[in-house]
Amino acid sequence: MKKTIFLSIFASFLLANNYAVENSDLTINSKKVATIIIGSEFKIIKKGDKTSKISLQGYRPKGSKIIYDTLGVLSTSVILDNNKSVKVLGTKLDEYENEWEIVSLEAFIDNSKITNNDVISVGKELFEERCGVCHALHSYDEFSKNVWPSTIKSMQDNSGLDENEYYQVVKYLQRVAPSDDE
Ligand code: HEC
Repeated sequence: MKKTIFLSIFASFLLANNYAVENSDLTINSKKVATIIIGSEFKIIKKGDKTSKISLQGYRPKGSKIIYDTLGVLSTSVILDNNKSVKVLGTKLDEYENEWEIVSLEAFIDNSKITNNDVISVGKELFEERCGVCHALHSYDEFSKNVWPSTIKSMQDNSGLDENEYYQVVKYLQRVAPSDDE
């Protein structure tokens, strides 16, 4: 009985949603191998005192250093420093017949960078506060999920969004914006 309770508590801890609280270093043997982007989701394999071992999966154009969390959507999850730290598990075609590599990564993250909160929802306020100052606020559905990143990039300096805020706005818009073919 004790064992069952222990196991179910342990399991729910592992199954909780874990996100990066901000753009953060991922390390292997204390050496930085990648940057995980704010709001990206991962599993905790082993929780340590200061750092935890995590794993995540994503998609990338063949050989790219940028890993996206959803097939065919340019929603950045990890930016790799080098290609040695990822495993290629296979390939998959998106709806436009583009080929993506399915990749997995195991690395360590500082415990202070882990949150169970949805940090991307803040992007809605940032969008509404910063993007309607000089001109009328453009509607979330004026651009598709894959066009918003470059649109926000071109307005990043105008609106004074730092790199974390840039990704918060982009990922919020990608949640609500239509796909390319809608
Ligand atoms: C400091 C003023 C300023 C702020 C703040 C600002 N913009 Fe703009 N925006 C402009 C100006 C000026 C133009 C027209 C000239 C140009 O395209 O650079 C423009 C043009 C645009 C366009 C039309 C360009 C196109 O390709 O159709 C979009 C969309 C846009 N802004 C979105 C945004 C978003 C989203 C934000 C918030 C991240 C934002 N803007 C913040 C000044 C601003």
